[in-house]
Amino acid sequence: MRHARIVADRDFRAGDVDRRLFGAFLEHLGRAIYGGIYEPGHPTADEQGFRQDVLELIRPLNVPIIRYPGGNFVSGYNWEDGVGPVTQRPRRLELAWKSIETNAVGTNEFAAWAKRAGAEVMLAVNLGTRGIDAARNLVEYCNRPGGTYWSDLRITHGVPEPHGIKLWCLGNEMDGPWQIGQKTADEYGRIATEAAKVMKWVDPTIELVACGSSHPRMSTYPQWELTVLEHTYEHVDYISLHTYYRLNGDDLGTFLAQNLEMDEYIRTVAATCDFVRAKKRSRKRVHLSFDEWNVWYHSRERDQELYRTRPWTVAPPLTEEQYTLVDALVVGCMLITLLKHADRVKIACIAQLVNAIAPISTVTGGGAWRQTTYYPFLHASRYGRGAVLDLQIASPVYDNAQFGPVPLLEATATLDEEAERLTIFAVNRDQFAALPLEGDLRCFSGFDVIEHIVLEHDSPHATNTSEHPDEVVPHARGDAAVRDGRLSATLPRLSWNVIRLARKGDQDWS
Ligand code: AHR
Repeated sequence: MRHARIVADRDFRAGDVDRRLFGAFLEHLGRAIYGGIYEPGHPTADEQGFRQDVLELIRPLNVPIIRYPGGNFVSGYNWEDGVGPVTQRPRRLELAWKSIETNAVGTNEFAAWAKRAGAEVMLAVNLGTRGIDAARNLVEYCNRPGGTYWSDLRITHGVPEPHGIKLWCLGNEMDGPWQIGQKTADEYGRIATEAAKVMKWVDPTIELVACGSSHPRMSTYPQWELTVLEHTYEHVDYISLHTYYRLNGDDLGTFLAQNLEMDEYIRTVAATCDFVRAKKRSRKRVHLSFDEWNVWYHSRERDQELYRTRPWTVAPPLTEEQYTLVDALVVGCMLITLLKHADRVKIACIAQLVNAIAPISTVTGGGAWRQTTYYPFLHASRYGRGAVLDLQIASPVYDNAQFGPVPLLEATATLDEEAERLTIFAVNRDQFAALPLEGDLRCFSGFDVIEHIVLEHDSPHATNTSEHPDEVVPHARGDAAVRDGRLSATLPRLSWNVIRLARKGDQDWS
């Protein structure tokens, strides 16, 4: 009979989950900040102008880090514009997204907001129009307790305690022609090294992320990574990876397999890091920060066109997607790929969090709702704890022109040993039929299914909208069961599944 099979063994592991794998990203882009998290005058806005309804949707995601303030935005940003008395902050032409930037939200407001969201800030410095001086001053402003020019300035701005920001990005996508201040790999490698040195001299406890390629289809990939790492290896802790996927026409088969490219991308960048390590006879290991990933129907050509015709406005509605069930499945597959590489990918940020390319959408002056993609992210962040198991998977396949034979089943599992919880994350890529799943759960005797969550819909293109926010929502009516130590489940056609197991008897089964 046609079915997929997995073997889970607690001794076969792919790595430990770093909580920062479930990070997010908020850029000064469109309505992500203004009209997204921040909207003074909104019925739910707090005294600082931040929307509480949006915070209430963010909190359950348990996002441990949020990358800020860009993105392309950061490459033209003067961080000094965004601190001090708000009424004195300059309005600027923002060139990355053709917007007017009011600077009403800056580093201090964002750091305070992130704390309320339960997240740490991952702060990017501008290596497009600025350089090592602005970068080191920002570290001093944020992280020194006081007694120096920039730290005392922060205190005069009403922030007596340092923010203690640990994670810093050395610019953004510096290989891209769309970037303000694009650089060659050598130019970037040099400035990133010099910025890294002085930033760490100001605060030796920080960790730094160097820019990798903007995506693996760049013509300079992966030579870019090699050159940049040859310059920066001893000064940085991570190198970044970015990628976005989209459905082209009705080619669901290719779209659903895109995470196989992501898998190859991770392997290549990890190998490049290790090649440089060997070449330099270094004892240090550079890890990966997948700090932009998502489904995105953006076309640069379309945006270029819009750029010419669109007027300059504050917070224009840009890159606002309406995600479908299939988009959510691709997000689920991408999360599975990130988990499978937990040994090397220590940081990842879904790009982005609110309105722009986001799992959460808002109406200015109105409500907020969850996109379809919210749910796989919620489940992975909530249940993807402990060790990632190196599942052995046997699955029927379908043929795809780009990827060859593609397994119908995409899956991984995490084991939270402390809580004795085993969670299987699985996507059925089959567009036509349910996929029976069998599991050999050796070493998990006494475990039983607590819950089998399923995200599915009759239409692969169903979406959640402000009028129908609950069109695509998960249910817990999956049929997974354990009998005689063997798992069986039906994965509905085109579905995201979370099968949660725990040791019977000695658990709080919630
Ligand atoms: O996330 C949107 C944009 O995508 C970011 O600003 C940029 O880094 C990437 O090209």
